[in-house]
Amino acid sequence: MPAEAKSRPPADLLAARMQDPYPYFAWLRRHAPAHVERRPGRPAVWQISRYQDVRALLCDPRLSKDPGRVPGYMPGPSGLNRHLVHADPPDHTRLRTLVNSAFVPRRIALLEPFIAEVAHRLMDRVEHQVHIDLIADFAAPLTFRMICAILGVPEHLDTPGTRDTLMATIAPDTIADPARAGRDLHALLDALIVGKRAGEESGGVDLLGALVRAGDESGAMSEEELRSTAYLLLLVGHDTTMNLIGNGMLALLRHPDQAARLAGQDAGSSLLATAVEELLRYDSPVRDATFRCAGESIRLHGQTIDAGEIVSLLIGSANRDEEHFTDPGRLDVGRTPNDHLAFGYGPHFCIGAALARLEGAVAFPLLLERLGTVELAKPADELPWRPARVIRGLAALPLVRR
Ligand code: HEM
Repeated sequence: MPAEAKSRPPADLLAARMQDPYPYFAWLRRHAPAHVERRPGRPAVWQISRYQDVRALLCDPRLSKDPGRVPGYMPGPSGLNRHLVHADPPDHTRLRTLVNSAFVPRRIALLEPFIAEVAHRLMDRVEHQVHIDLIADFAAPLTFRMICAILGVPEHLDTPGTRDTLMATIAPDTIADPARAGRDLHALLDALIVGKRAGEESGGVDLLGALVRAGDESGAMSEEELRSTAYLLLLVGHDTTMNLIGNGMLALLRHPDQAARLAGQDAGSSLLATAVEELLRYDSPVRDATFRCAGESIRLHGQTIDAGEIVSLLIGSANRDEEHFTDPGRLDVGRTPNDHLAFGYGPHFCIGAALARLEGAVAFPLLLERLGTVELAKPADELPWRPARVIRGLAALPLVRR
């Protein structure tokens, strides 16, 4: 095969990659570990697929997280891009320190009874239903409630409408009126911040109240950084964990032998802990790492990534790399060691990892116990995956009770 044909992914794998990216990723790892897509009028995008490369580049200072280095490119909604995911040091260090304290594992562990209480309440509501959508009925409201509790979002704003407004921002092509969605989002953030300034009580951790005070009293954060950070945390605190529950339950339904191993495990069991890690690895909720671009030219696999070109680190591919994991396509809830990259690696390692792990450890056994005998309501290859690039998650997970 000529070298050029070898580096062009087969059309069928490309077409199917939203539904099932793993054959495409395996092709990239094998034939084009640093694959570049060039489209007229757009910045080049490099896709990096092997575990060792992805891990090394996740903490390589030659890659910048500042989208301002790519002329005309803006990865998020306008006016809401000044947050830690899009920052290099020293701004990154300052913003991360302000947010981090609310997510330390010791503080997060205290939420366990609350997570279990909300999860049981949601299951009570669907107890007598034959048809259940595990995303809309359980994963979305549970994970949104938790991030709202940490941020101090009042209950009247914790609604499906608020969730839709946020989610619209990551798939603007799929909504009828993106300009209106943008206005709704800014109005929502205004309402939140104005409420905090007016001394609105929310109890709990109230991270947003603390950030507003840090900005107002010591100038530690600008107004744009405050809004951007509130937006970021509401979105990633919910969308990722929701997909851990959705992708994870789908994997367990498709591997009943592995689900059976988890039956009756309590939240502190070591098998449950390895299972959560394995579900994070097997179908990673953050499929591609967030924005990065080359700050200087980088040589990789005989090619040159030029300064200003975008570099997409394929976490979902790294986590299935056969050079790093034994039998990576097999789900094994007892897998050890399991040094997956589902939460990233290095200076941008996920701040919410302890919260996500705890929500998974509470949700999986509870669902296995309370759902009873359920099946997928449609074939697995017809399930609707959301058309987002960074995130891998289902729009719905329809189940039927037998
Ligand atoms: C299963 C759930 C989750 C997964 C798989 C996940 C995954 C990730 C990954 C891969 C990164 C690094 C991205 C990169 O380097 O490009 C990241 C960063 C981050 N995550 Fe998570 N995350 C999850 C849950 C959460 C939760 C619940 C929060 C809570 C707010 C959160 C907040 C963040 C923040 C703020 C960052 C940026 C850190 C930085 O740039 O320094 N994540 N996450």
